Amino acid sequence: MDKIIIRGGKRLSGAVPISGAKNAALTLLPCALLTDEPLTLRNLPRLADIDTFQHLMNQFGVSTTIAGSRPEDFGRVMTLEATRITSNVAPYDLVRKMRASILVLGPMLARMGEATVSLPGGCAIGNRPIDLHLKALEALGAQIELASGYVRAIAPDGGLPGGRYSFPMVSVGATENAVMAAVTARGKSTLHNVAREPEIVDLCNMLGAMGAKIEGVGTSELVIHGVPRLHGATYRVMTDRIEAGSYACAAAITGGEVLLQNAKIEEMEATAQALRDAGLHLEPRPEGLFVGTNGALRPITLATAPYPGFATDMQAQLMALLCRADGTSVLTETIFENRYMHVPELNRMGAHIETSGKTAVVHGVSGLSGAEVMATDLRASMSLVIAGLAAQGETQVHRLYHLDRGYERLEEKLALLGADVERLSDD
Ligand code: EPZ
Repeated sequence: MDKIIIRGGKRLSGAVPISGAKNAALTLLPCALLTDEPLTLRNLPRLADIDTFQHLMNQFGVSTTIAGSRPEDFGRVMTLEATRITSNVAPYDLVRKMRASILVLGPMLARMGEATVSLPGGCAIGNRPIDLHLKALEALGAQIELASGYVRAIAPDGGLPGGRYSFPMVSVGATENAVMAAVTARGKSTLHNVAREPEIVDLCNMLGAMGAKIEGVGTSELVIHGVPRLHGATYRVMTDRIEAGSYACAAAITGGEVLLQNAKIEEMEATAQALRDAGLHLEPRPEGLFVGTNGALRPITLATAPYPGFATDMQAQLMALLCRADGTSVLTETIFENRYMHVPELNRMGAHIETSGKTAVVHGVSGLSGAEVMATDLRASMSLVIAGLAAQGETQVHRLYHLDRGYERLEEKLALLGADVERLSDD
């Protein structure tokens, strides 16, 4: 296992390339199952989760080729060809490594008329059930069976009729599975109260480029007119708005500034507003989004919410930044039940954070001190890195594999901004 060593106190400044969005890529990749023609994804981030997903697709008989990227490039181009599917089973040993594997259920069901996927367990941040995925697929006409830790979905006489479903709560993954199942259904499907995250828009835009007929993209109601087949496409994965927000917090906590290359403020308005409320200066530019500090950081109060609300995936990173604010901030995590794993580690670095249920009270402190800390989940790990950049002395973040799941070449990007960071083997 690797660790990252950060010698804090350096003011970050400069430009950092923001990679393709992990959470868009993980729903675009399984769409290759929906056609027997090549699907080429550009700006695919080099992340452990993408590698895992590629391996899962290979298990199904999907060929994948990486083209045109030198080792020093950020991002990759991958072409997937699902000419012949040799397996429609996603096994436990792969699904347990990455919950997003559940996103093959809808497209595999649509393509093969039957799909079997290991139930993804919970994870550090919550028990993460998939009941809404299954209810949505049933509403589209699928028969669902649960046995021996697997879910099996079957389309009656090999094709889904389509249907109507109103989500009782917003779910990104369940929306994605339902959309991918509905685009080649025999009839029309209407989905209410769908997730509206930009990654869903990216999915719908790419499916449209493949020949799907989807109305209401970006709104909370989608009407999908099933088409007999989809064709291949070449599509550029959207920029990762969470990575962009993470580097904004990293630069800001050091009193620095950063040009987030390729970032689009219109995809991260709630994050942008939170950063402005915290006293930062944000300026959209042709090449991306500039974030600068002007004086002391101000405390803020906010709650996470489904898009266009403040992203739960930004909560830990913002909390790290607010540890250095002049005053007390109050954050409420409304999406996941256990997403404060970064708090004890931040407090070991001299932060003063009190949690009670969904609420975290962040008392600003005059300084943080470096420490050896343990990464627990992807965004919590980034929160510790952000704190380490401003801490006095050296911070070692262990179990770096958490970070590698969602941040492409983190130490290289931080070094681009002038951070004193080093990656070492933890053995
Ligand atoms: C996606 O997870 C993201 N992952 C998460 O990012 C993100 O935090 C989350 O959406 C919310 O924005 C990917 O896109 C791969 P949900 P997902 O279904 O789809 C409950 C990261 O750090 N729920 O919107 O799993 C669920 O327990 C990751 O990049 C049900 O109850 O999130 C949660 O409390 C972490 N039943 C809430 O809904 C279901 O069937 C929102 O979950 C599904 C979800």
